Amino acid sequence: MPRTTISVINADVGSFPGHSRTHPKLLETAAQMLKSERGKLLTDSFVTHCGDSLELIMMHTRGIYNEEIHRLAGNVFMECTKVAKSLKLYEAGQDMPAGAFAGNVRGMGPGVAEMEFEERESDPVLIYMADKAGPGAWNFYLYKIFADPFNTPGLVIDPSLHEGFVFEVHDLVGKRKISFACPEESYNLLACVGAPSRYIIRHVFKKDGTIAASTSTRRLNKETGQVMGEDDPVMIVRAQDGFPSMGEAIEPFTIPVLVAGWMRGSHHGPFMPVGLCDANCTRFDGPPRVICLGFQVTNGTLIGPADMFDDPGFDRVRARCNKLADTIRAQGPFEPHRLSREEMEYTTLPAVEKALELRWEPLGE
Ligand code: 13P
Ligand code: MG
Repeated sequence: MPRTTISVINADVGSFPGHSRTHPKLLETAAQMLKSERGKLLTDSFVTHCGDSLELIMMHTRGIYNEEIHRLAGNVFMECTKVAKSLKLYEAGQDMPAGAFAGNVRGMGPGVAEMEFEERESDPVLIYMADKAGPGAWNFYLYKIFADPFNTPGLVIDPSLHEGFVFEVHDLVGKRKISFACPEESYNLLACVGAPSRYIIRHVFKKDGTIAASTSTRRLNKETGQVMGEDDPVMIVRAQDGFPSMGEAIEPFTIPVLVAGWMRGSHHGPFMPVGLCDANCTRFDGPPRVICLGFQVTNGTLIGPADMFDDPGFDRVRARCNKLADTIRAQGPFEPHRLSREEMEYTTLPAVEKALELRWEPLGE
């Protein structure tokens, strides 16, 4: 049996109205294109959206960073961009790199989370997809799922998890990476990932090197100052039998956490877990939201999806998120609702400041 690869590649190639949601015609186009690859490049696929982000879940046997798979995703986004342009959807082609699409989408507009593994006897996988939330949004949850015994009792009582996990952290500014074994190094891990605008948990591994979780990490390009699709991260988590249970992997989403993103990618707001039917952004272009689809991975196919947050068990966190949204919204253009001065460097604010430059006078004290 060949190893199975899951590639989740997403992009915002146009939405309606404004930055709210993906048009059904885009979903249809993408689903048909991927379906026609079944038995060729792909063993299975599933297409969905979170807010204005079009999400391609692709199953295959070609491993991660595979050029043909990435090119396929690029072609789907290009076709969908054409449809978006014909409908004059908002910001059609937003996350598409300028010029032709040549192979790997890594580091370009689309977000990529991938993992390759040997299927277990039974292989439950959870795929989380967010909108209006920065790439560091997963840090809190991955720590809770894989390092916090108050969330994941399996770390204490299940011998197959008891030795802990290794977290691979990427520094998006310094463009470097580091790994922390937990629980031994959990304070070092938190020292970094508590700053999610810079440090991102990219992968979690078992101590024998088996992949447990993968995230997408795209971020604006500091050199070019291009802000391309930074606010719709995705994450893949394996569950059960040597990994946290399905329930342990969704439990931390009952905590209302503030993330960066929301309106104009410039505001902190509560990260709200929602069912698929609520994967549409409205209030203040949000609030930031996350969906989670559960699958059994079976011989390279996806059995599912199960809509994990479509459950009254998550009603209370949604209510608490709404309350938090009211509280923080009342601060209007003031920090910490608005992102920190440093993070605003990549928004439209510097243009406003530039216009004031000549009017500033020395204090003369
Ligand atoms: P997206 O990054 O989801 O397109 O949102 C941008 C925005 O300006 C929301 O107000
Ligand atoms: Mg988006």
